[in-house]
Amino acid sequence: MEKSDRIFVAGHRGVAGSAIARELERRRHTNLLLKTRSELDLMDQAAVDRFFAEDRPDYVFLAAAKVGGILANQTYPADFIRDNLEIQTNVIDAAWRSGVKRLLFLGSSCIYPKLCPQPIKEEYLLTGPLESTNRAYAIAKIAGIEMCWSYNRQYGTQFLAAMPTNLYGPGDNFDLQKSHVLPALIRKAAEAKASGERTMIVWGTGTPRRELLYSDDLAEACVFLMNLADERFQLLLKPEEPPLINIGTGQDLSIRELAELVCRGVGFDGRLEFDTTKPEGTPQKLLDVARIQALGWRASTSLEEGIRLTYEWAKESLALTPA
Ligand SMILES: NC(=O)c1ccc[n+]([C@@H]2O[C@H](COP(=O)([O-])OP(=O)(O)OC[C@H]3O[C@@H](n4cnc5c(N)ncnc54)[C@H](OP(=O)(O)O)[C@@H]3O)[C@@H](O)[C@H]2O)c1
Repeated sequence: MEKSDRIFVAGHRGVAGSAIARELERRRHTNLLLKTRSELDLMDQAAVDRFFAEDRPDYVFLAAAKVGGILANQTYPADFIRDNLEIQTNVIDAAWRSGVKRLLFLGSSCIYPKLCPQPIKEEYLLTGPLESTNRAYAIAKIAGIEMCWSYNRQYGTQFLAAMPTNLYGPGDNFDLQKSHVLPALIRKAAEAKASGERTMIVWGTGTPRRELLYSDDLAEACVFLMNLADERFQLLLKPEEPPLINIGTGQDLSIRELAELVCRGVGFDGRLEFDTTKPEGTPQKLLDVARIQALGWRASTSLEEGIRLTYEWAKESLALTPA
């Protein structure tokens, strides 16, 4: 990407999108196209077509999506499948029509089967049943990968689908009704500390294992992929397999270990109690990151440091609790 190329970051106010926009600004890209939802609703096909025809982005990072934790996915499956199918269909199709050079579609590790071997390789896509709690969301994301692949084969586009593991970082959603596991744990620990409680309740048994990626690391990986030289980028777009690449750290830990790390980071020294009546999702989700590491990228932010930075952000931006 040249510094003056027109780069559309869809979803630039989200966790992933804001980190991508920051990374591009840090690298002195001067022509970022950033639209809030009220300026451009990506579910409005005519508006999306108009935007691409008029603003003609060279590169697209598709980080806009309806995203949420287990509870939100279970409660609003129709919204998850409809919104995501509409957003990605509108953007991917308009990107092809307007001649975008490269597009990076962000999916999620929940596209992989619930019980597939660990660590999860890209080739395990569509080899078994999905986790039921976020099936609607996962199927929308799988459709997005299939669209990228189909457009590449039929129209010669260069659309790549990146599957990040669980993300966290500044801008995260700390609303317990909608949040992912890490912000939920940070909030609970901060509130327990502030109110002087001795116990903090964690959903599930604490045994499922999760991999977590700091949003700035994801952004660095996305920009790295978009900047790959043609011959290396083409290796990811072989016609015989989906244009898919995992982004993660390659390391996981149990929810109990994660909760303990969060408590240390936040300064809550009470007891953890596990509510085993609550859903907890897939037993393990660890991505195989050999493909991206072979290209020369690996994550650099430790979980301790990432938790510290995210908690600092939450204290300042959300007034989560006094220090
Ligand atoms: N968070 C994770 O753990 C995780 C893990 C793996 C992959 N991902 C993927 O990364 C991508 C971004 O996730 P995220 O965590 O950054 O989500 P997020 O924080 O919820 O951000 C999503 C962004 O999309 C925007 N958006 C949603 N619907 C829109 C619409 N109709 N028109 C315009 N903008 C719209 C939102 O705008 P508003 O600000 O107006 O709501 C928001 O800025 C998703 O594709 C997700 O699958 C996320």
